[in-house]
Amino acid sequence: MTRSWRFGLLCSQTGVTASVENTQLNASLLAIEQLNEAGGVAGRLIEPVIHDPASNPRQFAAVAERMLAREQIRLIFGCYMSSTRKALLPLVEAYRGLLFYPTLYEGFEYSRHCIYTGAAPNQNSMQLASYLFATYGKRLLLVGSNYIYPYESNRIMTELVHQAGGVVLDEIYVPLTPHRSDFDTAITRIGRTRPDVIFSTVVGEGTAMFYEAYHKAGFDAASMPIASLTTSEAEVAEMSAGAARGHITASPFFDILPHRSAVDFVASYRARFGSAAPVPAAAEAAYFQVILAARAIARVGSDDPALIQAALPDHEIEAPQGFVRIDRDNNHCFLWPRVGRLGGNGSFEIVWESDGQVKPDPYRVTQTLDG
Ligand code: ACM
Repeated sequence: MTRSWRFGLLCSQTGVTASVENTQLNASLLAIEQLNEAGGVAGRLIEPVIHDPASNPRQFAAVAERMLAREQIRLIFGCYMSSTRKALLPLVEAYRGLLFYPTLYEGFEYSRHCIYTGAAPNQNSMQLASYLFATYGKRLLLVGSNYIYPYESNRIMTELVHQAGGVVLDEIYVPLTPHRSDFDTAITRIGRTRPDVIFSTVVGEGTAMFYEAYHKAGFDAASMPIASLTTSEAEVAEMSAGAARGHITASPFFDILPHRSAVDFVASYRARFGSAAPVPAAAEAAYFQVILAARAIARVGSDDPALIQAALPDHEIEAPQGFVRIDRDNNHCFLWPRVGRLGGNGSFEIVWESDGQVKPDPYRVTQTLDG
């Protein structure tokens, strides 16, 4: 074979969101290994180039610049926190590269140099809100990590609560890298106000601290759950089963989905990375976006970002979550919204799922919960 395709994998192996970003790194590598075992793409193997940006926006920007300016990389895969994506995108744009971003986020963004394969708010927040309002009630208390995604995601949830005639009782932020005691205020205010649901936009290491503190305070998840978009299998693996039980997450993928493409993906991931390895939606998107990129390279015979960006839309592939494709209108992905509840053994059970793919609407042009 001749020269390889160089894919830049930019996933934190250390720092506050390392546990979930390591699953994104693993899943990207799994997809690359499977493609290479099948003969590579358009006559060449894919070579992963890996750096650890340590959950730090400045390091994301520095490493991205190194990849684009000095390491002959045009396609970058990764980023979890929106603060890291926002730090890196101006560089990707300046060097005319292409970022594949495999994480749910707050929406209200478009770049010709970014392909968004995680859920936009109309593919997770809206479905979660409908489920919560119908099942538990419309009095919410919001707890988040102190950075852009939680602020924006809470703004959207607040709009949904108000549209439904509900009330937001409180909005509390903890440091991104918290200590256990940083959750004391949230626990006290939850005890005082007794909301119907807590909406958590806490990310990374703080997630297990928050759920453990909630459990220790004796709150009952069956009547007053924590609901989240960022508490995935990766964060649940860091908490006790008792602390996890009864809480709710909305996501396009859960590792217990029963259909063939999901079962095969989870089995391959665990065969490669450990039989008990958590396999969250962030990993699933990291996996299928590598395949989407490879299919586009095969079609155009180049990794030129402009050609890839033009070739990506409208080509459907069977991802672990179901069939997915990039929307020509906005570079985001058609996805399958689902809502899961954590059972006694620390794994999710599906309590609601969409009966079809949902078109991404990152600017929430459609405003109503039944739209
Ligand atoms: C996120 O920061 N997009 C989870």
